Amino acid sequence: MCGIVGYIGSKDITSVLLSSLWKLEYRGYDSSGIAVIENGELKVVKSVGKLMTLQEKLSKERIEGSVGIGHTRWATHGEPSDHNAHPQTDCNEKFAVVHNGIIENYYTLKEKLIKRKHIFQSTTDTEVIAHLIEENYNGDLKDAVLRTVKKLEGSYAIAVLSPYEDDKIIAYRKGSPLIIGVGNNENLLASDIPAVISHTKNIIIMEDDELAVIKRDTIEIFNQKGEKKPLKINKIEWEPESIEKGEFKHFMLKEIFEQPEVIRRNISLRIVDNKLNFGDSFRFNKKELSNITNIVIQACGTSWHAGYIGKYLLEDIARINTEVDISSEFRYRNPVYGGETLVIAISQSGETADTLAGLREAKAKFLKVLSFVNVMGSTISRESDSTIYLNAGPEIGVASTKAFTSQILNIYLFTLYLARIKWRLEDEEINEKFALIKELPDKIKVVLNNNERIKEIAGIFKDKKNFIFLGRGINYPVALEGALKLKEISYVHATGYPAGELKHGPLALIDKETPVIAIATSSNVYEKMLNNLEEVKARNGIIIAISNMNDEKVKKIADYIIEVPYVIEHLSPIINVIPLQLFAYHLADMNGRDVDKPRNLAKSVTVE
Ligand code: F6R
Repeated sequence: MCGIVGYIGSKDITSVLLSSLWKLEYRGYDSSGIAVIENGELKVVKSVGKLMTLQEKLSKERIEGSVGIGHTRWATHGEPSDHNAHPQTDCNEKFAVVHNGIIENYYTLKEKLIKRKHIFQSTTDTEVIAHLIEENYNGDLKDAVLRTVKKLEGSYAIAVLSPYEDDKIIAYRKGSPLIIGVGNNENLLASDIPAVISHTKNIIIMEDDELAVIKRDTIEIFNQKGEKKPLKINKIEWEPESIEKGEFKHFMLKEIFEQPEVIRRNISLRIVDNKLNFGDSFRFNKKELSNITNIVIQACGTSWHAGYIGKYLLEDIARINTEVDISSEFRYRNPVYGGETLVIAISQSGETADTLAGLREAKAKFLKVLSFVNVMGSTISRESDSTIYLNAGPEIGVASTKAFTSQILNIYLFTLYLARIKWRLEDEEINEKFALIKELPDKIKVVLNNNERIKEIAGIFKDKKNFIFLGRGINYPVALEGALKLKEISYVHATGYPAGELKHGPLALIDKETPVIAIATSSNVYEKMLNNLEEVKARNGIIIAISNMNDEKVKKIADYIIEVPYVIEHLSPIINVIPLQLFAYHLADMNGRDVDKPRNLAKSVTVE
């Protein structure tokens, strides 16, 4: 939540800061701003509203300078407004601060600062940082920041700029992500790689409690005591084009259409010479895993849905007792752990605050943690004992799509791995499954080829105010995911239900106004699903069914059919979710919603 950028070098400062901010807009978009040192003075320009309003403001006034910071905000403390937009400054406008995260003790700090005659302009927690730096500054900005962070509680990433030391940006990370782009006679700072990738592929991922002094031609990293640390530079493999929309109207649509490639990439990285390979970040040995008797999966939102699918897979294939919980619940309950428990954290961003807290809870109880994460080097991956990366490439649309299908595939592969270790499957059986997995990319393409028909159906229902999504078994979490996709980007109410539960209450909602989207593909509960759909039909419900090709039984019951190719039940969520993603996309787009940046949301939820 919130995006931070910084630049020092000789390129046009406003265009570098703005173009970097555009790449981070997914992290927050209720206000934005920049601070640049111009002719020895701090110049701050900020604006409430989407980044376009800041861009328009900046197009009217030219700012010259070679060092600056910027921010795009997702409000936590203080409503979105010009005053609350970052950068925040001290009383004399000598220190500008941009911040991602929450200062939990800001209220006490602010009261004390006010008593000491500091004048506040905003209602943010961030402004206390600028005033504390003002008090702590004694001719050394690095020192002032180190002294300031000692007083802060919470999790945060900050960047600080001051005309007193106009040759540098100071950055500090504690709990919220920060990376440094290492350039040639220029350097950059950002919350995420997309903001710097068009300038450099050489990245330093800052760790917690590290301070960086970023100058035009040097970068120095210090620990919280001010001791210098060695630099670790990573090379990013992906191309800048992967963060452009290309021919697509929205990132979400592009990312839905990338799924055949994402699945193909995972297959070629994970199945090598008919053996599973989870890469260097997977550090468990077979012995440790063979002792596992229980698994607890914890995640949020779409990642939780993938975890729920994982429960069906792990129990059915590897025969391991598996619980799945929403991280914000998991972290505050007091679970009873029996036997050898493995905790799995699933996260696209690798920064989700609740999932991270759940991971830390598990580690505090000395449990092993495996994470499935998309963003390389993110906090969740660094704090886990082992990580399986999702290789989905950057996901920019706020609604998660390609990360979800690669989460399911990687969990499925991990399940096969465990099943082999625990002698539940023979090599031959696993090889047969590999062959089926390899058919997935082409089968996904078949679904994508049906895009126009799905759009047509979305058009028919675009004015409906309520939707019910039904699934059973391993496709029940897919129904939850279909409902989540629709509500988050179209703002239409949608609920996902296990179809067998309908008659215990929700059947009362069925009438001719409420479309029911049902997953009715081949499975061990297929006939049961048909019975449930008959119950809906008998109450004049309108049924849109996801069915396998030429399924005459479903055709007789449903009003609209979206056909998908047959795959085995365990892999069916990967295929069945795609029409639901497209349905949600088109319905939202037809209603003029900002699909990639739905209201009130942000891509990376780094606050509780
Ligand atoms: C929905 C969506 C969210 C995320 C959730 C967890 O489309 O994207 O529900 O899945 O905020 O985020 P990660 O996976 O980054 O931990």
